[in-house]
Amino acid sequence: MKHLLGIQTLDKTTIELIFETATEFKNVLNRPIKKVPSLRDITVANIFFENSTRTRLSFELAEKRLSADVVNFTASSSSVKKGETLLDTVNNILAMKVDMVVMRHASVGAAQFIADRTAAQVINAGDGTHEHPTQGLLDAFSVREKLGEVAGKKIAIIGDIMHSRVALSNIFTFLKLGAEVRVCGPATLIPRHIAALGVSVSHQVQETLAWCDVANVLRIQLERQQIKYFPSLREYAAYFGITKAMLDNLNKPIVLMHPGPVNRGIELSSDAADSPHSIILDQVENGVAVRMAVLYLMAQYRDKILAVSA
Ligand code: NCD
Repeated sequence: MKHLLGIQTLDKTTIELIFETATEFKNVLNRPIKKVPSLRDITVANIFFENSTRTRLSFELAEKRLSADVVNFTASSSSVKKGETLLDTVNNILAMKVDMVVMRHASVGAAQFIADRTAAQVINAGDGTHEHPTQGLLDAFSVREKLGEVAGKKIAIIGDIMHSRVALSNIFTFLKLGAEVRVCGPATLIPRHIAALGVSVSHQVQETLAWCDVANVLRIQLERQQIKYFPSLREYAAYFGITKAMLDNLNKPIVLMHPGPVNRGIELSSDAADSPHSIILDQVENGVAVRMAVLYLMAQYRDKILAVSA
């Protein structure tokens, strides 16, 4: 892999290779000495133009566990505020001999834009409403770990499908691995032609929970909504919010997921988020191993290119 810009262009074999590599790294993470030297000569810049807790820390930990040199850049405290362009900002960082860039940006295609114009290897850590590939990978890895396999499983993605990059990366990953995927939410938050991707659509959360093996619940992305898509958060919670009682009353096993940050009391009640159905914190743990796998495989690509040009 030269870059990781989205799941859409990844094939099943590569996804499976990432999972096998991540399984090895998860074992490493559970050892007393959690560090391996794989990225010892590589410098990674984490360039975040949007807020992040989990993803940035997870990438940083993954890089450090692989012995990379790490620099962090947060747009809110940078010269972006003085009017510098995205390309100039990134080129200035690269001039300091950075090899890989992990980037989050509010614009769709930002990671692709940088990958097309610089020599760095780029990982997309979320580009607007488009893709968040490592989240799709860690979600599918977590399902595989919990249920043994992904193929044949019924996966429901519930919430703000329209504005979530997690939704699209999840749809691509789970479909490529042979799962059935359904999206569920208010009609205004579901893109009109989404069924063309091969997913089914529902507006009934209760019926969707009864259908699925896994419910991946997404946050309402209010920061991306320029108009009102539903009357109030209170009404959204009443129609689409999921409680522990709803999950318990299904009388079947169900796996509850959420990429975080959870808005407790809106898409999930606190008792649902903290219930035994939930694997939310396992997702976070797996995120580090999956990102280590992606970085490791990308570094292998780099080594191969350097060997050829030597
Ligand atoms: C998601 C994101 O930023 O796209 N969070 C994450 O990366 N764990 C989802 C969200 O913000 O709701």
